[in-house]
Amino acid sequence: MRIISYRLAKSLEKMVDYYSQFNPSSLSIKQFIDFGLKASEQKSYQFLKKELPVRLANIMKEIHLLPDNLLKMPSVNLVNNWYTQSFNEMIEFEVDDGCTEETLTKFCEILVKIRNRHSDVVQTMAQGVMELKDSHEIDLHTENSIQYFLDRFYMSRIGIRMLINQHTLLFSDHINRNHHQHIGCIDPYCDVISVVKDAYENARFLCDQYYLTSPELQICKSIDGDNEPIKIIYVPSHLYHMLFELFKNSMRAIVEHHKTDELPPLLVTIVKGKEDVCVKVSDQGGGIPRSLSERMFHYMYSTAPQPSKSDAHTVPLAGYGYGLPISRLYARYLHGDLVLLSCDGFGTDAIIYLKALSTEANELLPIYNKMSTKFYKTTDHTVDWRNTCHHSPISQTQFTQTQ
Ligand SMILES: Nc1ncnc2c1ncn2[C@@H]1O[C@H](COP(=O)(O)OP(=O)(O)OP(=O)(O)O)[C@@H](O)[C@H]1O
Ligand SMILES: [Mg+2]
Repeated sequence: MRIISYRLAKSLEKMVDYYSQFNPSSLSIKQFIDFGLKASEQKSYQFLKKELPVRLANIMKEIHLLPDNLLKMPSVNLVNNWYTQSFNEMIEFEVDDGCTEETLTKFCEILVKIRNRHSDVVQTMAQGVMELKDSHEIDLHTENSIQYFLDRFYMSRIGIRMLINQHTLLFSDHINRNHHQHIGCIDPYCDVISVVKDAYENARFLCDQYYLTSPELQICKSIDGDNEPIKIIYVPSHLYHMLFELFKNSMRAIVEHHKTDELPPLLVTIVKGKEDVCVKVSDQGGGIPRSLSERMFHYMYSTAPQPSKSDAHTVPLAGYGYGLPISRLYARYLHGDLVLLSCDGFGTDAIIYLKALSTEANELLPIYNKMSTKFYKTTDHTVDWRNTCHHSPISQTQFTQTQ
């Protein structure tokens, strides 16, 4: 029995090696749309049965490069097993059986199963890092490797989920299609202002629950050159995620900073240029010192008390330190960005940049190669700037990451 499972593991390892030699194919939102409008289920199946194992194998190879003590943590092990299981299920479709109706149905079912299996990956991986921090001293190299890995790992997950969602939403009969104008999870006429209002209302609900008060919303500008409300081709759930996180952060900062005084409103500006669509969220929540600006995007950096396990069923306003780094990944996934500009003592502007043209909104995906491998292995990051000040604007992390 042991010999069989060892053999299975060995052949699986070989398959992961094989698929990880290919680079993931990065699609643009325009390609997603064209594909969604024209392609048949068979075509989508033929593409995904190779692309999904490639994307899974690329990130699985990176999981294996994580520091040993992190790999041994129970939650990381669990995540690793989920990936192995899903990869295994995917490569079962390698054998070409002529793509029957039955195969297509089974493929959809497996995709749904994989999506469900991986739904708690973000929290479970975060839990694994916490387990490591609770049981070990972490040096700067390990800290940098974890930050580097989590960005790539979560980005890979966003891409894989996007592919699975497109296929299942377009071709599975079991899923209700509520939005007829949507192409899978993409809205070709995504009304930015209605996503802003939606995210604001839900963040406000949490803020009211927590503080019994919340700031008002003021939308400064939201029309394009033709005096029309700004519409973009985008994944509304991604935009919602980013805005919800920014609103929660700003609301907390405003209420904490102004205590019992009257709360200044949250200002939102939406503009569309030739290249970018920008959504700016401005608050007067006291701002962030410049020395901390890089840390905002570190996983697990939070100034809020950590939500207790007994509150697991309620959504906290803050406390995990995942809001900003994950939101930035959503923005970067389609070649946008998320930046924070803060005036210490006054307030913060958070700007979401999105690509205005659907042909430029390409997936940004991590690829496994010699360069990424080198990052995990190199521990000797010689510093080539003199840096004696603790609050230097260029942090040690930035030195090491650029080398
Ligand atoms: N607009 C803001 N004004 C002031 N400080 C901010 C603002 N946005 C973020 N911060 C600071 O950055 C930290 C990290 O934010 P982030 O959203 O990543 O995590 P969090 O809000 O603490 O927890 P969660 O994962 O629940 O969002 C916050 O704890 C807060 O100290
Ligand atoms: Mg937050």
